[in-house]
Amino acid sequence: MVEPPEEIDYLPATAALRPAIVDLLRSCALPVEDLPVTLEHFVVAIAGQRLVGSAGLELLGDIALFRSLAVAPSWRGRGLARRLFEETRSRARALGARSLYLLTTSAQDVFAHWGFVTVPREGAPPAVQGTLQYRTLCPGSAVVMCLDLLPPARR
Ligand SMILES: CC(C)(COP(=O)(O)OP(=O)(O)OC[C@H]1O[C@@H](n2cnc3c(N)ncnc32)[C@H](O)[C@@H]1OP(=O)(O)O)[C@@H](O)C(=O)NCCC(=O)NCCS
Repeated sequence: MVEPPEEIDYLPATAALRPAIVDLLRSCALPVEDLPVTLEHFVVAIAGQRLVGSAGLELLGDIALFRSLAVAPSWRGRGLARRLFEETRSRARALGARSLYLLTTSAQDVFAHWGFVTVPREGAPPAVQGTLQYRTLCPGSAVVMCLDLLPPARR
C-alpha cells in the first residue's frame, strides 16, 4: 500500500520553536548568531510534530533581507523551500518592502530560478551592507542577490 504524503503546515514561527530553528540552521551551516529575537517575520514548515523547514525576513526600511531558508535533508526536493519562499515573499509585500535581498554561498541557482538577480557585493544597499550577515557571518565569497517586488510600472 502506498503511504499518503505527510501533510505539511506552514505557520508563523513562535519563540517556542526557536531552539528547533537554531538546530536546523546549524545543521545546514547557516548563521544563527544574528537570528532576530522575536522571529516575528519567520515562517516554519511543520510535518507532524517536527520542524522541517524555515525562512525569514529582516526588515531594513523599504527593503527586506530574506534569510534562514532551510529544509531538513530528508524533506528536500518536495517543494518545501518554494512554499516557504512564497509565504515569505507575500509577507514582505504586505509589509511594504520594495525588494528582497539575500546572501548565499550555496543556493545561487535556486534563487536565480526564482527570479533573483546577482548584484555586485559593493552595490548592495547600505542597509544590507550593515547587516551582520554581510559584515561578518557570510564569507566574502557569498553572493548578494536581489528580487524586485514592485510591479514594473511602480519601479
Ligand atoms: C536550498 C534548499 C532550501 C532547497 O530546499 P528544497 O525544499 O529541496 O527546494 P524545493 O524542493 O522547493 O525546490 C526549489 C526549486 O529550485 C529548483 N532547483 C533545485 N535545484 C536547482 C538547481 N541546481 N538549479 C536551479 N534550480 C534548482 C527546483 O526545481 C525547485 O523549483 P520550483 O520552485 O520551480 O519547483 C535546501 O537544499 C537547503 O536547505 N539547503 C541548505 C541550506 C541552504 O543552502 N539554504 C539557502 C540559504 S542562502
